[in-house]
Amino acid sequence: MEFSSSSTPLFLLLSVLPLLYFLYLRHDPKKQPRAHGLKSYPVVGTLPHFTKNKDRFLEFTAEIMKRSPTHTMSFKALGLTGGVITANPANVEYTLKTNFGNYPKGELAVSMLEDFLGHGIFNSDGEQWLWQRKAASYEFNKRSLRNFVVDTVRSEDVQSMLERFAFDNICRLVFDEDPACLAEDSVASPHIAEFMRACNDAQNAILARFNSPIKSLWRVKRLFNIEPERRLREALATIHGYTDRIIRERRERGEDGLACGDDFLSRFAAGDRHSDESLHDVITNLVLAGRETTASALTWFFWLVSGRPDVEGKILREIRAVRRGSSSNGVTSGAAFSLHELRDMHYLHAAITESMRLYPPVSLDTYVCKKEDFLPDGTFVGKGWQVTYCAYAMARVEDIWGADCEEFRPERWLDEAGVFRPESSFKYPVFHGGPRMCLGKEIAYIQMKSIVSCVFERFTLRYTGGEGHPGLITSLALRMEGGLPMQVLLTNRGQAVSC
Ligand code: HEM
Repeated sequence: MEFSSSSTPLFLLLSVLPLLYFLYLRHDPKKQPRAHGLKSYPVVGTLPHFTKNKDRFLEFTAEIMKRSPTHTMSFKALGLTGGVITANPANVEYTLKTNFGNYPKGELAVSMLEDFLGHGIFNSDGEQWLWQRKAASYEFNKRSLRNFVVDTVRSEDVQSMLERFAFDNICRLVFDEDPACLAEDSVASPHIAEFMRACNDAQNAILARFNSPIKSLWRVKRLFNIEPERRLREALATIHGYTDRIIRERRERGEDGLACGDDFLSRFAAGDRHSDESLHDVITNLVLAGRETTASALTWFFWLVSGRPDVEGKILREIRAVRRGSSSNGVTSGAAFSLHELRDMHYLHAAITESMRLYPPVSLDTYVCKKEDFLPDGTFVGKGWQVTYCAYAMARVEDIWGADCEEFRPERWLDEAGVFRPESSFKYPVFHGGPRMCLGKEIAYIQMKSIVSCVFERFTLRYTGGEGHPGLITSLALRMEGGLPMQVLLTNRGQAVSC
């Protein structure tokens, strides 16, 4: 293209605009990125610190959040998307609720997850999200669902066991099939084990997309079928084949075949005429939501409690008291606890809540700013910047939780009468907050309390991983590096017998 003399001033103006914008940003003090103790380099800003600490990102973020006066930092390197990380409850409330419309998941994240999750509830914004939220809220709030959750809970590396257990459990809840991943390999049917493996592979490959510093590189890898996109393609074919089979078999059962039970698939299908594609999205989104989160929460819970015999003792006493109450009503010991009994376990509820405070399954959660904005603490957020709240760091901030914030203390959740006392979801955003708050929170507590009470009634768990703090792995949910090695002892009237 040639420029005529009359278009030259326009061309010059267009060329200098980005420079003017950059200079304006640099010189407007209110819009300056706030690094809080991190050395900021010309052009690349604080990026080198993030690169250096990429393998200990949570710990690194927590350190900065603690020393920042408003528990928030922001960064911007030339040519890269800007970002804000916050551990400030007022900022969390503002982005998740007050100015919710300005902080969607954003096109970038949606495009990275699209081939796995379609446009399901997790991976959509605006109207597309809203109708799914309404439909799902209605189903999640039914009492019959809570009872179904209790019925589906039954009673080495305990992390892997919990993950397989959570996978079996969420599959029963979503489409009423037990993949038996917890059973020996020979028992589990091969195509079902394949489904779980495919879900793992898909998650790992998608995580690689998010973690790549070059955000569109995955598109090139997908085009040329290069790892990990090649493995993702295979995994997606397995996942689609599996969900297609479930939906086809249900449809073949005739008119009411899809809507024949208490599971989620039936409930959604009963409500309206859904395409196979949207039912597929229901399955993948809910399996993803429920599989790793509860397993992660329980892994850290069992690890924390194994080092605190006082807490274990209190949990056990509460479980036994509840059991005694029911046996006087003719309920035999060893049976799964009912919803009502689980609700009476306030100390256990507090201990699980406290453990998730310190080790939140979703430790970081990111949204994108649509229109430039200022957070309540004055932090500037540019258009398109990512805003991340770090629940892991929030637990370690004294201003929020007091001087004993790093201590595992279930009592902080109980009132004088020993009754559980909830906190604001913006101070404790473990289940998110505002309009997109987790829909499975109650289900998750029922599952976790059910599992812990069944396990503790029969077994004592001893951590055999040695001294020191286990490493943190930020996968989709927070995992424990190297798994959770435990010696499982059969408890017999207070005496532990190895089994
Ligand atoms: C300890 C267990 C759990 C934790 C800590 C947890 C946490 C969260 C968090 C942080 C979000 C927001 C994620 C985002 O920004 O996209 C979320 C969303 C969601 N969770 Fe959970 N979750 C748990 C268990 C479950 C279970 C068992 C289910 C379903 C059976 C579930 C269903 C959902 C759904 C459907 C959403 C999306 C809500 C929306 O976008 O409107 N969650 N959860």
